[in-house]
Amino acid sequence: MDLKKTNDAVMRRIHAMNDRVNMLKENDLYFYNQPVTELRGGARVLVNGREMGMYASYGYLGLLGHPRIGSAAKAAIDRYGTGTHGVRTLAGTLKIHNELEETIAEFKHAEAAVTYSSGYATNLTVVSTLMGRGDYVLSDKLNHASIVDGCLMSGAEFRRFRHKDMEDLEKRLQQVPSDRAKLVIADAVFSMDGDIIDLPKMVELCKKYDAWLMIDEAHSVGVLGKTGRGIEEHFGMNDVIDIKMGTLSKTIPSVGGYVAAKKELITYLRHASRAYIFSAALPPAQAAAANEAFKVILDEPWRIEKLNQNTHQYINGLKSMGFDTMLTETAIVPVLCGSDERAFALTREAQHHDVFVLPVVSPAVPEGLARLRATITAAHETDEIAYAMEVIGKAGKEIGII
Ligand SMILES: Cc1ncc(COP(=O)(O)O)c(C=O)c1O
Repeated sequence: MDLKKTNDAVMRRIHAMNDRVNMLKENDLYFYNQPVTELRGGARVLVNGREMGMYASYGYLGLLGHPRIGSAAKAAIDRYGTGTHGVRTLAGTLKIHNELEETIAEFKHAEAAVTYSSGYATNLTVVSTLMGRGDYVLSDKLNHASIVDGCLMSGAEFRRFRHKDMEDLEKRLQQVPSDRAKLVIADAVFSMDGDIIDLPKMVELCKKYDAWLMIDEAHSVGVLGKTGRGIEEHFGMNDVIDIKMGTLSKTIPSVGGYVAAKKELITYLRHASRAYIFSAALPPAQAAAANEAFKVILDEPWRIEKLNQNTHQYINGLKSMGFDTMLTETAIVPVLCGSDERAFALTREAQHHDVFVLPVVSPAVPEGLARLRATITAAHETDEIAYAMEVIGKAGKEIGII
């Protein structure tokens, strides 16, 4: 089919994007969808035929390829096959789905949990099921796109408060009529910046203004807290979040999303959320892998200690070279570059020296705040991190970032 419509707005948008992609490709600055063809153990991968150190993985605890998790997935395929018969409400609920949800509830110190086929679908369906016309959703300005989309889809009044600004959140809570339902929602760890939300203050404000609190733990499970249980453990708080959302695609090396909460709320979501009722459940192998991964986290606490050591080594090393690592306190480590071009150039140099790291540019972050974003994992070794820092430091000097 020939893609030639009239010269309408859609066609102009398609052309503009294609022009940008072609320009980046011509200048060896195109880092989108690079094929990782092999996992080489530890934190090494094969990208475009070259072995590189992996600094773009959300597998914070290095669990991808873990033998126990792989065996659990294989056993599930042998037992159930590769699919689920369809949506869960009809014939698609397998024993492994129920086991996984029990494991998650226990891990998150919650009464119950429900899973969905992705983290994105989880945010979309949970926010839009709970909130509707006439209700209010108050969302941190830097929240993940799936939260924003869930808020928009809900039809509720959508208010964004300044990033991590609790005074602004309180001001906006005061503006909501007292008889309206309110949901306050934030990432626990922000995916572009690596900083942590002020949970104690948020809990206090939600209590004061009678609002529901939902926290997205995509980047905090396995990262925060002594045993990796996430943001509540990090702040020494127990079961203070009404809706604990998380993904099964990052520290947990599988795919899917979940919400852990009080039993009544989970029962409601199981019967009312459209991504549960109208979409197939997780494939058995993925459910079994996720189930085993939560157990491995608790059985191998050394991984969290190693992740913390590695993160400190990397952040402190970059800072001492003069890089601006913004407000990160976690394994997501941005290096501020300024323009998109500088972020692309730093990425190119790093990759040419076999450090697989990626840029984050506008519109994912505001213009002028483009960055190189590395993620540190428990699978990195001290000398590998030292090498990555050496490469980034040398390139940073050449490009004029430090
Ligand atoms: C904060 C946050 N929430 C939700 C998601 C969506 O999760 P998934 O990739 O499992 O769909 C992501 C993924 O990048 C994320 O970073």
